[in-house]
Amino acid sequence: MTHQATSPLPVVVLISGSGSNLQAIIDAAQRQEIDIEIKAVISNRPAVAGLERAQRAGIETYVVDHTQFADRRSFDTALAQVIDRHQPGLVILAGFMRILTQEFVEHYLGRMLNIHPSLLPNFQGLNTHQRAIDAGVSEHGVSVHFVTPELDGGPVVRRASVPVLPNDSADTLAARVLKQEHRIYPEAVGLFAAGRLKLQDNVAQLDGQPIAQLPRTAE
Ligand code: GRF
Repeated sequence: MTHQATSPLPVVVLISGSGSNLQAIIDAAQRQEIDIEIKAVISNRPAVAGLERAQRAGIETYVVDHTQFADRRSFDTALAQVIDRHQPGLVILAGFMRILTQEFVEHYLGRMLNIHPSLLPNFQGLNTHQRAIDAGVSEHGVSVHFVTPELDGGPVVRRASVPVLPNDSADTLAARVLKQEHRIYPEAVGLFAAGRLKLQDNVAQLDGQPIAQLPRTAE
């Protein structure tokens, strides 16, 4: 289903926790650097800081608490109902810590982005900073990608790399990566809102040109 680019592009943001990426996107929208309107922020966990960030910005918030559902499928169905009420042209996963069903992902294919703290396709999954340190890589980073049924596997639309320093801990490395997250996520959302980013046959394109993907190297 293709969605005509509208201005501002209505978006829904899904969170699970602090919402620092949400905040970066709110700030970029308020500075009119990106042409979106955040119609709703939905958390799968109650009382997280990200909900307060949204409320402070006057954005509607919802909690769809995954512990209240018997299985993944019924949670995803309830979540999609809340999302679709707002008819978003883009769904943004921002620190959203749920594995989504294939059906849910396919419903939003081509209009759902996620941010993952590694240079994909390396270090998919959790604890990426400690794994990068343990693997002895000299470079780490963050990737914004289209969400496809492969967990953390969708084509990357924007990435940023940071050095891994000899005395880095997972926390110091995570903090260096997070700064880059807050820079590139608003950029990626802005490009999508401008109609410049597309997912075509599982290839991410910027202005009609395929975006180069990294080879799998580490681990
Ligand atoms: C970030 O490291 C992000 O890459 C990951 O979740 C962490 C927290 O994000 N997806 P946020 O502060 O809740 O946006």
